[in-house]
Amino acid sequence: MGINLARIAIFASGNGSNAENIVHYFEKQKTATVDLIVSNNPNAFVLERAAKLGIESHIISRADFKQAENLLELLKNKKIDFIVLAGFLWLIPSELIISYPNRILNIHPALLPKYGGKGMYGDFVHQAVSISGDTKSGITIHFVNKAYDEGDIIFQKSVEIEAGEDSDKIAEKVHALEYEYFPVIIEKVITSK
Ligand code: GAR
Repeated sequence: MGINLARIAIFASGNGSNAENIVHYFEKQKTATVDLIVSNNPNAFVLERAAKLGIESHIISRADFKQAENLLELLKNKKIDFIVLAGFLWLIPSELIISYPNRILNIHPALLPKYGGKGMYGDFVHQAVSISGDTKSGITIHFVNKAYDEGDIIFQKSVEIEAGEDSDKIAEKVHALEYEYFPVIIEKVITSK
């Protein structure tokens, strides 16, 4: 990115613990700034976090998101270089993917290609892993394309679990990996451009 600091928008639908962790990471690192948080959910706790962190937030309707024009305008006005999906549940429209080629990153709370696709998010993923009998889970960080969870994989990290371990315990282990690795991998992608 040369001497200009990369500017990040985070899209999040729920709690926002990853969003907050990413904000704090870049406050320390100073290799990028988080300039916008976008949510589809007016009740999402991530919006309270954004207010506390002093970061501009924007709530988007389904129609505005699908149509994408207004959102693209907002991203352009805010000079956003990268979009990070941190627990964001809507499929990204192709206009956005075309405008941000290999500049939209997602984290998935399992080892893709297993346990991905529409409807597989958050606790649904951990429950599926729990009943599967698998002895590991983990995180996948990938570029976003037109299909849920199918973009090129950038990074995976696994963690051991007991067969049948409950989903809360798995979630805890996976969240720990997310907090440790997601900001670092975002930074690697940004600084390699
Ligand atoms: C995270 O575990 C993230 O990997 C997952 O949602 C959680 C959001 O937690 N994303 C998906 O399941 C996407 N398919 P957070 O709101 O506390 O960051």
